[in-house]
Amino acid sequence: MQTPLKRHIVMMGAPGSGKGTQSAILAEKLGINAFSMGDILRGVAKGTSKEAQEVKKLIDKGNMVPNKLAVRLMEKELLKPENAAGYILDGFPRELPQAKVLDKDLASRKYRDYNMGVDLVLLLQVPDDYVIDRIIGRFQCAKCGTLYHEKFKQTSSFGICDECGCKEFTRRADDTYETVVSRLRTFRSVTAPVIPYYEQKGLLVCVDGTGPIDVVSEKIRKIVGY
Ligand code: AP5
Ligand code: MG
Repeated sequence: MQTPLKRHIVMMGAPGSGKGTQSAILAEKLGINAFSMGDILRGVAKGTSKEAQEVKKLIDKGNMVPNKLAVRLMEKELLKPENAAGYILDGFPRELPQAKVLDKDLASRKYRDYNMGVDLVLLLQVPDDYVIDRIIGRFQCAKCGTLYHEKFKQTSSFGICDECGCKEFTRRADDTYETVVSRLRTFRSVTAPVIPYYEQKGLLVCVDGTGPIDVVSEKIRKIVGY
């Protein structure tokens, strides 16, 4: 029997587990939007307001932003009728209170009729030494944000983005060894309690994220059912 297609998806995993990489692939295959809370916050951090400067300071050191701000941004981006057909949330929820707000919002009178409730939570599982290797070698296109890796995913033509042809690339300020170690600690203490929350709801599926990108995508394809 074919798995019923899942379209309201939360992507979880430690830093560098491949959430952004797999969310982009899945969003394209399903024709839905992927929301990366990290990307949204890095966008906010480019501003000049006091809030923007505070966000920059926090995320550059790998620290979480206040719950209130993460929830406000999630509500602004996700809670739109055009996302009723599906979404992928990467990096939200990242704390138990965020998971509870998300459920409450999606079940609220305003959104209940859209049937936008989470129907699958994918947990990408990758050991710490892989994560550190992946994050230290990561770079991305300065224009379209496509993710690459020095060893695991190089551009097809040296120095040219495969997607948009741009020749400029950037690295994230939080991609240093020390910051990754601290982000891993935060994942274990603050984000890990979200895992049993979704497990109890019967939504959690663990995915071995250690293989090459296309092997992991194939595992996700079978779970999602497309
Ligand atoms: P965020 O940007 O979400 O950072 P993160 O969770 O640390 O995750 P990463 O983006 O580093 O890794 P990823 O899992 O997306 O891996 P990727 O696909 O890039 O958040 C940044 C910060 O914002 C947080 O630290 C926090 O401070 C704050 N924040 C975010 N959300 C928040 C919230 N809700 N509340 C409060 N604060 C919040 O892959 C990594 C590399 O590996 C890439 O180079 C890729 O090419 C390569 N790669 C991927 N898959 C494979 C594979 N299978 N094999 C080999 N290489 C691979
Ligand atoms: Mg990411």
